[in-house]
Amino acid sequence: MCGIVGYVGQKTAKPYLLDGLKRLEYRGYDSAGLALFSEKDYVIKRNAGPVQGLADATLDSGQRETMGIAHTRWATHGAPNETNAHPHRAGDLVLVHNGIIENYSEIKDRLTKTGVRFSSQTDTEVFAQLIEFHRRKIQDQQPNLSAEDILISALETSMKEVDGHYAILLMARSVPGKIFGVQNGAPLVASPLKGGCLIASDIQAIIPYHNEVCFLPKGEILVAENGKFWTRAPGSSALHAPKLERMDWTADKVEKDGFDSFMLKEIFQQPLVVADTLSGRLPAKEHEPFIWDHQKAHEVLWKNVKKLYLIACGTSYHAALISKYFFEKWAKIDCEVDIASEFRYRSPVLAPGTVVGVISQSGETADTLAALRLANAAGASTFSICNVPSSTIARESGFQYPTKAGPEIGVASTKAFTAQLTVLCTLALDVGRLRGHLDLASFRALARLPHDLDRVLGQSETFIKIGEKLKDRRMVLFVGRGTMYPMALEGALKMKELTYLPSEGFAAGELKHGPIAYIDKDITVVTLAPKDDWYSKTLSNLEEIRARGGHIIAIGSETDEQIKRQCLSGGDEFIGLPESAWGTQPILSVVPLQLLAYGCAKALGRNIDKPRNLAKSVTVE
Ligand code: M6R
Repeated sequence: MCGIVGYVGQKTAKPYLLDGLKRLEYRGYDSAGLALFSEKDYVIKRNAGPVQGLADATLDSGQRETMGIAHTRWATHGAPNETNAHPHRAGDLVLVHNGIIENYSEIKDRLTKTGVRFSSQTDTEVFAQLIEFHRRKIQDQQPNLSAEDILISALETSMKEVDGHYAILLMARSVPGKIFGVQNGAPLVASPLKGGCLIASDIQAIIPYHNEVCFLPKGEILVAENGKFWTRAPGSSALHAPKLERMDWTADKVEKDGFDSFMLKEIFQQPLVVADTLSGRLPAKEHEPFIWDHQKAHEVLWKNVKKLYLIACGTSYHAALISKYFFEKWAKIDCEVDIASEFRYRSPVLAPGTVVGVISQSGETADTLAALRLANAAGASTFSICNVPSSTIARESGFQYPTKAGPEIGVASTKAFTAQLTVLCTLALDVGRLRGHLDLASFRALARLPHDLDRVLGQSETFIKIGEKLKDRRMVLFVGRGTMYPMALEGALKMKELTYLPSEGFAAGELKHGPIAYIDKDITVVTLAPKDDWYSKTLSNLEEIRARGGHIIAIGSETDEQIKRQCLSGGDEFIGLPESAWGTQPILSVVPLQLLAYGCAKALGRNIDKPRNLAKSVTVE
């Protein structure tokens, strides 16, 4: 969950490193640091706090070095302070790291007994010291080897001793002019620039400069120098030219475009994102064969499917929960949804005919990736719904149904969720059609979605104002039935991660089994109340909340005069959404939920794009 970046070339390294860190800051932002190779040694600067602090601290240092590595941190081992910030130095080496070394404490004990002294509490320093320990040993034993061969041999020996998943970049004083990198389950991407080479933990730091990248294969060692880089397989001295892939993302997609935050921009991008995701997938004629052009997927995944597992974390898990209703209703498939960190540690029964779908915006979430690997190893047919087509999850899944949300920078997921729901909705409808259950009306409702989303966004000021008023509430509850139950969970997640206010989501039918005890005049209950099959039951829930003095924000249909009147006459709030089909209601309802949380967080002065303690991509367990 950290961001790492390295540059080696003919230009000054520092601007590339700082710009890269700013672009990677969504991965972690509690401290940052950089190391520049200067003359015969390093200049290292580390700072607690966001990347800007590091940028300010190094502003006029006059450093013009053409090689360096840098890091933005999300703390796992050790407090987020300057001492624990990367890069970490060990003798000849300096190293930055993304990931986790699971057996670090065992290695630390072993190294301590040999006299190695540690200055931080991090697992990263242990990795650096281990490589340095082996480097010295090999140097003593085989003094005729070149400094580079000694370093690579030390790196390979250390990798065999280290458990965990990681990506590292390192520089060695004994091998000037080169940056070395290796990855074991955490991505590392390198790109050749004119007269330079840029390496980073993801393409966000690279795309402003070049759109051709190489994803370093797991276990291989990257050797980068002035304008070129190679990879070498473990144990082999043969150098391979990198396999470059062209990315279709461009740098202009990662700017705020006049919005006060990436999150707000991303909320407003949702109509476009849905339109892009639907593009070419809606049937022009009634009997068009495949929306997803998935003839092969139909054979492998859908023709004989007996059970569907959908696995994800966080907001992506909520998208999966909603689509359970879609797959059951439209495709008549037995569908189970699980949190990746639970699924991977259970003993799930993956009998023949089981299909496992994993959903992830980043495509790098550690638990989701582990769940996918478990499913692949068990022989299940797998597919992914990812927003980053080059991500590890997308690459390792049997089939891909990509979302087309473009880079999502705000830590709170918004447009990626909408895109996931759009994919899941079209997929469930299409699989239903392949299995003989055609719901043409729902297909048609999808076509109207971008337009309806635009209309909903037309009320954004109102949603934000209502959100601002929530800042002094003791707690915000979210309730709903059917597909609106997972939406309630999503509303509560957005609220808690952005505002840090206590907030919980419940199935409305569960209110009276416990959560109703929360309700008094200081509590707001956001009630998702569309005109669906459970409408009359939702009306009863509203009465129960009112009777206990709870403040209500009802999100219903714009034509629903009954709820509107009751809310407005009782000092409550009413949000009216365009009438829409059952399957598309969740996609419209999420917009006010996102903007309520945004409005409240703004009023509380929270950091919208970087809520405390969170990171965008959770690449640790
Ligand atoms: O990249 P992923 O979709 O796998 O990420 C899953 C969660 O970490 C993510 O949705 C998280 O819950 C967001 N902060 C929610 O806004």
